[in-house]
Amino acid sequence: MKSLFDNTTLSNMKLKNRFFRSATWEAMADSKGHMTEKLRNLYLELARGGVGTIITGYAFVTEDEQPNPKMMGIYDDSFIEENKVFTDKLHELDTNIILQIAYGGSQTNFNVGERTILGPSSVEHSIYGVTPQEATKEDIKNLINSFADASLRAKMSGFDGVQLHAAHGYIYSQFLNPHYNKRTDEYGGNIENRARIIFETLEAVREKVGTNFPILIKINCSDFIDDGFSFEECKYVCKRLEELGIDAIEISGVVGAKTEDVRLRERNLRYLKKESYFRKYAAEIAEELNIPVILVGGNRSLDLMTNILENTKIEYFSLSRPFLREPHLINRWILEEDSVAKCISCGKCLDAEGNSCIFNRKKSDK
Ligand SMILES: Cc1cc2nc3c(=O)[nH]c(=O)nc-3n(C[C@H](O)[C@H](O)[C@H](O)COP(=O)(O)O)c2cc1C
Repeated sequence: MKSLFDNTTLSNMKLKNRFFRSATWEAMADSKGHMTEKLRNLYLELARGGVGTIITGYAFVTEDEQPNPKMMGIYDDSFIEENKVFTDKLHELDTNIILQIAYGGSQTNFNVGERTILGPSSVEHSIYGVTPQEATKEDIKNLINSFADASLRAKMSGFDGVQLHAAHGYIYSQFLNPHYNKRTDEYGGNIENRARIIFETLEAVREKVGTNFPILIKINCSDFIDDGFSFEECKYVCKRLEELGIDAIEISGVVGAKTEDVRLRERNLRYLKKESYFRKYAAEIAEELNIPVILVGGNRSLDLMTNILENTKIEYFSLSRPFLREPHLINRWILEEDSVAKCISCGKCLDAEGNSCIFNRKKSDK
């Protein structure tokens, strides 16, 4: 019988348990995207806490574009040597670390007006009010190359793999979404066209990093808006990604949209107590694939995750906010079998001083 604490292998990566720390922007890098001691210590502490695989917060792949302050960067070779020192230390703690790479687009309020912001089409962001410049084919080519170069740097830095961020309304998620993608060329229209930039990115990344380096993707099971990326389309894209050689798919959901645009209540589920809220979607996708599916969103209790592991083809569980509250959550779970994370899913983790759990901040900061 499968257990959450199984040793498994994903591509050439060995995992000591089935838990991932899902990508979590920590707001702790310096203004150029280099890791600070605070950020390195946070990851080392997570590694000491027992999680098998850490996915970093999203790292920007071109120097002039980041959707949020104090993100990690990986846009030039200056990151390689310092990151290698860090990943070596982390590996001594028997933990994997995967770099999530991203390009933001119009879902931002950071330095707007001071930089070029690209999008699939010039459609105003429904929450941020930012209207991007429509990416030319040259821009698309450059973007794909930036992801490929960033992935090679990640490999040279000792990361165990990369994860392409194609979820949550950032640019790749916007390409998938017909509300934001109005293009009439081969990057717009039917789902094969809207996903083309992602397929070409995967191929370009693979070309650079070779076969023995895991490439993961985080994607929405649905945008949950009427004119968004649908579940049926997601299943199609996942199957194509498998054919093209992706190593694992993390299933998330929802794009930034005005509340009245949101078709289902999933957006609000992030803030409610409901657990593992994308599990039905992820289970159906896993059923159709032969590569591992990672479930993210509201994973809080060993009981439910064990049940999902036993009764579906979902292989891995990814958690974000619970690790902000309890970096040593997995060690605690190893000792206490029937256990629930202390995270209350309040969503108040954002903090200019570095994202953190309100319960762990000094009283005066709350
Ligand atoms: C502070 C914070 C930062 C986040 N940053 C990222 C990120 O960089 N990339 C990403 O894909 N998701 C990011 N997320 C989303 C999480 O990875 C995760 O999908 C979401 O929080 C649901 O999981 P949870 O219920 O375990 O928190 C972030 C979430 C939080 C709370």
